[in-house]
Amino acid sequence: MVIMTTTSALTFQPVLERIAEEIARTPGRGRPADYIPALASRDPRSFGMAVAELDGTVYGVGDWRQPFSAQSITKVFTLALDLAREGDDLWEHVGREPSGNPFNSLVQLEYENGIPRNPFINAGALVVTDRLHTRTGDAAGTLLDFLRAESGNPALTFDEEVAASEAGHGDRNAALAHFMTSYRNIENPVPELLDQYFRQCSIEVSCADLALATSFLARHGVRADGTRLLTRSQAKQVNAVMLTCGTYDAAGEFAYRVGLPGKSGVGGGIIAVVPGRCTLCVWSPGLDERGNSVAGVAALDRFTTLTGLSVF
Ligand code: DON
Repeated sequence: MVIMTTTSALTFQPVLERIAEEIARTPGRGRPADYIPALASRDPRSFGMAVAELDGTVYGVGDWRQPFSAQSITKVFTLALDLAREGDDLWEHVGREPSGNPFNSLVQLEYENGIPRNPFINAGALVVTDRLHTRTGDAAGTLLDFLRAESGNPALTFDEEVAASEAGHGDRNAALAHFMTSYRNIENPVPELLDQYFRQCSIEVSCADLALATSFLARHGVRADGTRLLTRSQAKQVNAVMLTCGTYDAAGEFAYRVGLPGKSGVGGGIIAVVPGRCTLCVWSPGLDERGNSVAGVAALDRFTTLTGLSVF
């Protein structure tokens, strides 16, 4: 991996530095997630952004090497790992339509017979993790191994404090899992599934780690070591679901402003993909009311405006 940190390194570096300057001048950063007590104390002024080219070259600015809680961003990787194993059968258990509802909503599940709208709302992510857990015996460990390999960072780890903090306030996720069990759409015991899911969400990563780990989606399914995880068609599918569902009930606004497949997490990170070109990760812990990083969306908006890189 070549890391370029000086402006003379060209291409993306001056763009990132300009964005960081603009963000630093922008007031109003939103508020860190407080429903997971261990995340509430994060500083909303923190800001980092990284771009990874397809060959593993990474450009970064600000707090781009600072680890943060990946949270829902991990749902992209569990989706890819499960899709690679079971293929289209997965779609009998989870849909791929935007929900138009908050990420932790229960309301659609009953009248849609326990089949979640998409793999990125919590209900859908629980189904995916459950199925990956059935196939691997250790969904969270499989995910961690994958992220370590793709980022080239063997030090990545779970944050057991964040996982425990969320488990202590996890009644809504427990309700979703039990409800789907009643429709036989969850295979594992609920406490075991929730343990896997909370540990999955707690993985600590930096912008550099996540930009690199996402690269297989810009390389049309090919991993860092040159082996293929997803078919070209499956990589397109994951990118499409990110575009339409990756930022929940703000997915339309995100597509309008940023114009890239993206996935947010309540840790304040957002990943984005420019297929065939590069991947991005931005982090700033202050969230809007829909759970997306305020400075993160603004920075991605500026990136696509300044570079012209977009899927549209
Ligand atoms: O299930 C939860 O509530 C969290 N562990 C993950 C939620 C999340 O990151 C939603 N993203 N915006």
